[in-house]
Amino acid sequence: MTNVTDQDRVLIFDTTLRDGEQSPGATMTHEEKLEIAELLDDMGVDIIEAGFPIASEGDFKAVSEIAQRSKNSRICGLARANFADIDRCWEAIKHAEKSRIHTFIGTSPLHRAIPNLTQDEMAEKIHETVSHARNLCENVQWSPMDATRTEWDYLCRVIEIAIKAGATTINIPDTVGYTAPLESADLIKRLIETVPGADEVVFATHCHNDLGMATANSLAAVIGGARQIECTINGLGERAGNTALEEVVMAMRTRNDIMPYHTGIDTTKIMHISRRVATVSGFNVQFNKAIVGKNAFAHESGIHQDGMLKNRDNFEIMRPEDVGLSGTSLPLGKHSGRAALRDKLETLGYEIGDNQLKDIFVRFKDLADRKKEVFDDDLIALMTLDDADDHLQLVSMKVTCGTGGQAESTVELEVDGQDTIATEYGDGPVDATFKAIRAIYPNKAHLQLYQVHAVTAGTDAQATVSVRLEEDGMIATGQSANTDTVVASAKAYIHALNRLIVRREKTGPGADAREISYKDLT
Ligand code: KIV
Ligand code: ZN
Repeated sequence: MTNVTDQDRVLIFDTTLRDGEQSPGATMTHEEKLEIAELLDDMGVDIIEAGFPIASEGDFKAVSEIAQRSKNSRICGLARANFADIDRCWEAIKHAEKSRIHTFIGTSPLHRAIPNLTQDEMAEKIHETVSHARNLCENVQWSPMDATRTEWDYLCRVIEIAIKAGATTINIPDTVGYTAPLESADLIKRLIETVPGADEVVFATHCHNDLGMATANSLAAVIGGARQIECTINGLGERAGNTALEEVVMAMRTRNDIMPYHTGIDTTKIMHISRRVATVSGFNVQFNKAIVGKNAFAHESGIHQDGMLKNRDNFEIMRPEDVGLSGTSLPLGKHSGRAALRDKLETLGYEIGDNQLKDIFVRFKDLADRKKEVFDDDLIALMTLDDADDHLQLVSMKVTCGTGGQAESTVELEVDGQDTIATEYGDGPVDATFKAIRAIYPNKAHLQLYQVHAVTAGTDAQATVSVRLEEDGMIATGQSANTDTVVASAKAYIHALNRLIVRREKTGPGADAREISYKDLT
């Protein structure tokens, strides 16, 4: 819970579901947004920015359902500087136990030029819209977008207006990732010293990572006096992304000697939510990413291993357990039973009911028959294969490929209960297989992403495949894992198609496409 009287408490404002999800291709389904919101709520995030309610019917529904479900976090929605956006936002969040309207306008010369407003006209608009938001909701955040490229005098003037109009949080966005740590600290410090009323509001920092300095800039802003960091899981976000939640939280915790601040985050929940966000967004985490990368706690070089064995502190400034990585990781095998599987999944952050366990156990046994040792990452891959919206199901497939000729793939699919077979040729086995699937189930979905990762080491490793399809503005991501890469690819493609079919049925073509593109924001 937020303790606002504590001077060193830094509020964590997570915008994975808004700024993160607006990253092209990172679209999540309704159910995925609810799941991520629940994990954020559970890990102690103070404020969840759940979406941009006026952007689409889908955004509105997600924000309002998250608002109704949240247990601890304050639920925030985004609104541009007009009454229609603000009213729609309030409609979506008003049932939350704790809610916040976040309204913004671009204040830098470049952004003022887009609506073609003079400084005075924009100042008037800020006064009107923030007052309107405050009449609806007692908790209002205001952001001068592109603040770090806004003239100093004008920035002070508009912040003062927003505070007088009732804003309770002033967020300072570095929208294009332009600032640097010393400047970031100095800007917040001078604003707090200069703007009348600044001591009555919370100052927030919202950094983008275009120059790779988002984490440093956010921490510097806190040193300058900000007490809210806006961030996303895995640093998900447009272009080079946003400040990564896990980085700022672990930095303040690990270097508390020089950054004596604290948050309400349960850091042991970091790894699980990081994996879930990577899976549902289709944005894999780079291996050497700080805190949550696969190699972040791996000490493979001989010198490091020797040092680690002598004393962990030699090379480890954080303990893996602190971020939710289980310390020792003994693999399971084909003789492991249900209890061992459940126990292992629980240590990995999954809470599973008996029915789900039954289903996972069958898949685990199947994998253990093909693979001697089943590692944590194998199990995580098994867990990512979720919903069975089975309009299309893979019955069998046979692929011939190699040197000297085109690859050939014969695929048998059950389409709404009826078996159909097709054979196609292509530029490699995956191309031939996707063509065969399209021959059985013709569709105009455009393949936006095809990604393959080996889950563990070894030639018997499972491959996880992500496929992202786009049709009429609707996006669906599918995943699969298998020791056979081509089978995993076929299943991931079918998974994405199944999801697309379900979305099409629920909403009709184009219904979930954003009426307001996020591009309108920046
Ligand atoms: O980066 C940005 O300026 C934003 C605003 C909408 C706060 O995301
Ligand atoms: Zn942003």
